[in-house]
Amino acid sequence: MDHTRKIDGRFNLVGGDFTNAGEASTQLKKILQLRGVKDSYIRRASIATFEAEMNVIIYTPAGILRYDVDDESIKITVEDMGPGIEDIDLAMQEGYSTAPEWVREMGWGAGMGLPNMKKNSDVFRIDSAPGEGTTVKMIIYLNKGEQS
Ligand SMILES: Nc1ncnc2c1ncn2[C@@H]1O[C@H](COP(=O)(O)OP(=O)(O)OP(=O)(O)O)[C@@H](O)[C@H]1O
Ligand SMILES: [Mg+2]
Repeated sequence: MDHTRKIDGRFNLVGGDFTNAGEASTQLKKILQLRGVKDSYIRRASIATFEAEMNVIIYTPAGILRYDVDDESIKITVEDMGPGIEDIDLAMQEGYSTAPEWVREMGWGAGMGLPNMKKNSDVFRIDSAPGEGTTVKMIIYLNKGEQS
């Protein structure tokens, strides 16, 4: 495959759709594997996109996950339709979660999603307008010489 070619795409995310939860991050993982991206980068991208995808499904009515991949980086943007996050510093804290009981029963709500997104990306940015929505931007740089 021609690694210099840029690829991009998008997935629609539907709030409450636990049946298809993880589908976008699984698809992106396959795309990165076909492209021959090293496992260590794929692992980081998969964790980061999966956590972002789950947050949209759990906390919002709908969102879009966009990806842009080239020889240098994997860029992921996840934008949702609200309700937004009032206090981003608080939301970013490990262990902070507003997940309701029924979500916790499914194994979510450890309050580790946002910290893990940050940990697994080289650039992490979260912007939120309460009442409007939240946008998470993540970049993983592909250092060509590095071992996988
Ligand atoms: N897209 C979003 N829209 C609105 N609120 C969000 C969004 N993403 C996160 N939050 C808020 O930030 C909190 C922390 O999110 P984080 O992903 O770190 O943990 P969690 O989803 O509660 O648990 P975990 O990700 O470990 O299952 C959430 O509980 C929720 O209150
Ligand atoms: Mg989460």
